[in-house]
Amino acid sequence: MVRFSTLGATVLLASTVAAQIKKECGEGLGKCPSNKPCCSQYGQCGVGAYCLGGCDPGWSNKLESCMPAPQCQSKTYKFTDSKSSPIISNTKYLGDPSTADWVSDGQPLYANGVVYLTMAPETVGTVLASTRYVWYGKISATMRTSRGAGVVSAFIMMSDVKDEIDYEWVGVDLQTSQTNYYWNGIPDYTHSGNITLDGSTNTYSDWHTYTIDWTPDSITWSVDGQVGRVAKRGDTYNATTGNFEFPQTPSRVQLSLWPGGLATNGQGTIDWAGGLIQWDSDEIKKNGYYYAMVKDVTVECYNAPGAKGSGKTSYKFTDLNKVNTSVTLSNDRTWLKSFLATGEDQDKDLPKPETKTTTQISTDAAGKTTTVVNTIEPTESSVGTVPGLDGAGFDSGDLNRDDGSGTSGGSSGGSGTDGTDGPAVTEWSQSSTSGQSPGSDATRYILVWGNLVGMLVLGAVMVTL
Ligand SMILES: *[C@@H]1O[C@H](CO)[C@@H](O)[C@H](O)[C@H]1NC(C)=O
Ligand SMILES: *[C@@H]1O[C@H](CO)[C@@H](O)[C@H](O)[C@H]1NC(C)=O
Ligand SMILES: *[C@@H]1O[C@H](CO)[C@@H](O)[C@H](O)[C@H]1NC(C)=O
Repeated sequence: MVRFSTLGATVLLASTVAAQIKKECGEGLGKCPSNKPCCSQYGQCGVGAYCLGGCDPGWSNKLESCMPAPQCQSKTYKFTDSKSSPIISNTKYLGDPSTADWVSDGQPLYANGVVYLTMAPETVGTVLASTRYVWYGKISATMRTSRGAGVVSAFIMMSDVKDEIDYEWVGVDLQTSQTNYYWNGIPDYTHSGNITLDGSTNTYSDWHTYTIDWTPDSITWSVDGQVGRVAKRGDTYNATTGNFEFPQTPSRVQLSLWPGGLATNGQGTIDWAGGLIQWDSDEIKKNGYYYAMVKDVTVECYNAPGAKGSGKTSYKFTDLNKVNTSVTLSNDRTWLKSFLATGEDQDKDLPKPETKTTTQISTDAAGKTTTVVNTIEPTESSVGTVPGLDGAGFDSGDLNRDDGSGTSGGSSGGSGTDGTDGPAVTEWSQSSTSGQSPGSDATRYILVWGNLVGMLVLGAVMVTL
């Protein structure tokens, strides 16, 4: 049987990848302040990308701080090349789903017709999140997991108020797909269930299609079309509150690889993940990183029966009860003008580059004049605009820990060019979508994200922009 702490770990990092980044908002911490109003999926406050996917309306400054979420679109996402299902770094995405199908944090890379989710030593891995949300639907991912102690692969659905439906794989058990669901981020650890492959195959060596069929009444987990598990809404009723404690709010698809076995994680997480991660494993020696592979993702959208509103563009929270009736179908836009904008000030632009110049003219003895123009860059904002990853798992004990160690957050992936088993061709997705000049305003504001983790991310940002 699964121990409490073991599953406690699952919830929050199934809740996925967020670090030894100091949490600023959420249960026990309260809401974000008005100057950085948006509470990210991993509990940090900021503007810009903090107000997009994963922005939690419950812990943001106002209900309107988070942007409305792009509505579901049925589609099969293939990753044959960077154009088939575009992935954009979260340092570039501003909320318009026509610009990308996926937002990345970490280092995804395309090769061999699939996308590799990489985790290089001392990084917190990679997450892909769909730019569009699903409010009921059938979601399938054809993938191969990673392997090794402490290495966790995941395919989950996650809502902005932390309703969650999971598949997770720990790298020491390649036979088992762990399934789970949560409602409103409440750490009820009694809902996990395993689906086991027979001995002729495993999750690492072979492609399998994992499906989550999510309706208002049930969740069905299937592997290769065979039903492995069903959870029913009817079984989740809480008579005290009158709530069905069942996932019921619009959710993003998230695919990730993260280090459950980091020494800085809670012991429960480390045990659950199969022990400490080995950064000097054969896998790392050979390829430079751990990796999981995703061949395709298919989303078939269902309607939310009885949903309020008739808009076709976005899902919008209209109250904080965090249940199905809290969400309205709206036509409100989902994108921000800049990385300084928020849901409350969507058109806020970057300040004009008011570069101050001073001119010195000097004349030398020969009568030749030299003009020296000194440029003084404007002072920059210190408010974060792109939230970090939190690669650390934690059990309930470390939830509010203020760990300033900053060993992770943001990832600087390996070069990955000399792999034999790994991808032979590298094409960092971030570079492939880069159209900005290195000195763009967006870049600068990302670069000044003022904390240690931000500093570490800086390297990656500089490489990718
Ligand atoms: C599911 O499998 C994991 C990994 O093998 C194991 O640790 C856990 O106890 C199993 N959970 C259940 C509910 O059987
Ligand atoms: C029902 O909800 C109450 C209030 O949130 C909670 O304390 C209680 O544990 C819930 N009951 C069950 C069976 O989950
Ligand atoms: C919300 O869920 C309730 C059951 O809890 C259901 O009766 C109702 O139709 C649902 N409404 C929407 C908008 O999905």
